[in-house]
Amino acid sequence: MSATLLDVDRVRNGYRALQRPLAFLDAPGGTQCPDAVIDAITAYLREDNANVGAPYGTSQRTDALVEHAHGRAGAFLGCDPGTVAFGQSMTALNFLLTRALARDLEPGDEVLVTRLDHDANVAPWLALQDDVGIVVRWVDVRDDLSLDLEGLRDTLSSRTRVVAFPAAANSVGTAPDVRAVADLAHEAGALAWVDAVHYAPHGPIDVGAWDVDVLLCSPYKFFGPHLGMACGKEEVLRAWRPYKVRPSADEPVGRRFELGTLQHELLAGFVAALDYLDALGWETIVAHERQLGERFLAGLPDGIELYGLPTMEGRVPTFCFNVPGTTPAEAARHLADRHDVAVWWGNYYALETMRRLGLDPESGAVRAGFVHYNTTEEIDRLLAGLGDLL
Ligand SMILES: Cc1ncc(COP(=O)(O)O)c(C=O)c1O
Repeated sequence: MSATLLDVDRVRNGYRALQRPLAFLDAPGGTQCPDAVIDAITAYLREDNANVGAPYGTSQRTDALVEHAHGRAGAFLGCDPGTVAFGQSMTALNFLLTRALARDLEPGDEVLVTRLDHDANVAPWLALQDDVGIVVRWVDVRDDLSLDLEGLRDTLSSRTRVVAFPAAANSVGTAPDVRAVADLAHEAGALAWVDAVHYAPHGPIDVGAWDVDVLLCSPYKFFGPHLGMACGKEEVLRAWRPYKVRPSADEPVGRRFELGTLQHELLAGFVAALDYLDALGWETIVAHERQLGERFLAGLPDGIELYGLPTMEGRVPTFCFNVPGTTPAEAARHLADRHDVAVWWGNYYALETMRRLGLDPESGAVRAGFVHYNTTEEIDRLLAGLGDLL
């Protein structure tokens, strides 16, 4: 067997959550957890539950777990573990980090956001527009929903302080060239601020090679528990004044941005999720996802309106579409009720993408998103359901 062939049945045997007829094609909303992740969370609570820094065994093991989780996060992200911060969610961390940066922003400073972004990488900047007087400027997409790099270049100015953008769009699946965007940001003297939440289950992150200044993601989108995670270049984080309580750790620098007691049991689950991913390997995951995406695109019935890139180049297998004559809500309901297929509908918090597509942001479109534990049979069931609707 080639190294890139995934044994999906074997993978799925590791998930009690997948032992049911439902085809779970809503990974962009959060992936299922392998049993090993759930077991690690339970084991921590049963055997090691404690706060940090005390001289007894469970606390010492918790200290070691916290240290280990940061180390593993650093390896996963391709950054110094000391620059990693865990938090409640990507959204919470992004409000926190943007607020810390904003202490040094001035009225008239500019932040660029894109029409591909989830609102979690838009709303914090709009709030600073209101509170500080910064100017938020928009980077558009082309008609195929790829990011308009020429437009980005033209929108940069000597006042640009940040370029905020996604490593992959949770709405239409576009995966911009992160390094190219970061290089453009840096040429203008701005920070590259990347939302990797949607990208993370689909491919390796390499903060060093991407040369981004701040990166955020959420382990619950890559087979772990509900948790947020961020990292930043050391010199960038050190330059900010964090909002923190005085006795909490100042070093390593990432810890300044962790508020209160961490979710220790979830860190145990996070480590187990990384063990799981390491055992599979990205090459295998990427190859399998590509196969699923290509099968979906090749089998998409004529008449379905797909928004976004028509091949697997430049995208992850997340697809946004509408069925003429059927509302997105009705289509998703039909797929669930008649075909046991789980997909979402609406705007998925990508408000500007919906507006750019000329869609009503309330009703939006249907979204199906695949990850490596999905099967070709599930994709075929989705396609059959769509055929039915037409
Ligand atoms: C691309 C993207 N960014 C940010 C978020 C927000 O993440 P969190 O739920 O961890 O706040 C999501 C959640 O769906 C997302 O898909």
